[in-house]
Amino acid sequence: MTYAVIYFSRTGTSRRIAEKIAKKLSIEPVEVTDNMDWDGTLGYMRAARYAMKNKEVAIQTRGKIGEVDEYIVVSPMWCGKITPAIRKLLGEVPKEKVHLIVSSGGMNLKERDGYLSVLDIMKSKHNEDQLIDTFVSSLTA
Ligand SMILES: Cc1cc2nc3c(=O)[nH]c(=O)nc-3n(C[C@H](O)[C@H](O)[C@H](O)COP(=O)(O)O)c2cc1C
Repeated sequence: MTYAVIYFSRTGTSRRIAEKIAKKLSIEPVEVTDNMDWDGTLGYMRAARYAMKNKEVAIQTRGKIGEVDEYIVVSPMWCGKITPAIRKLLGEVPKEKVHLIVSSGGMNLKERDGYLSVLDIMKSKHNEDQLIDTFVSSLTA
């Protein structure tokens, strides 16, 4: 099987998770960025509004997403949902080939249909490394 690890991150958690997974698979993660300013309090409020209203953003990928068998996509949770940038990406990457990993403060993602798999990594559970190990083992088993 061939894999690509793709992520969006506002404050670094999803980046860290993507980097750990990519390292275990000996590949480089690809970052998705958008054209928005999500920094600070105003940025947080904007992020919440964009997530809740499913507002569209323009995205760019830093690095090439090649043709692979399965995609591992890491997104923060914003207001119970995946981020606008990752929602946009999923218009370009076939969802049925996506292992979605959602990094959150403590909630499960509700919209889980159509993905190959969905894994919630919640800060409140303090089990990030264990979940990553189990996830990567399930891929390579
Ligand atoms: C606008 C916004 C909304 C959020 N909403 C939720 C939420 O509904 N549930 C939750 O558990 N965490 C929520 N969080 C927390 C993030 O999902 C969590 O801190 C995540 O790990 C951040 O990932 P990042 O560091 O890659 O940006 C929210 C964060 C932001 C900025």
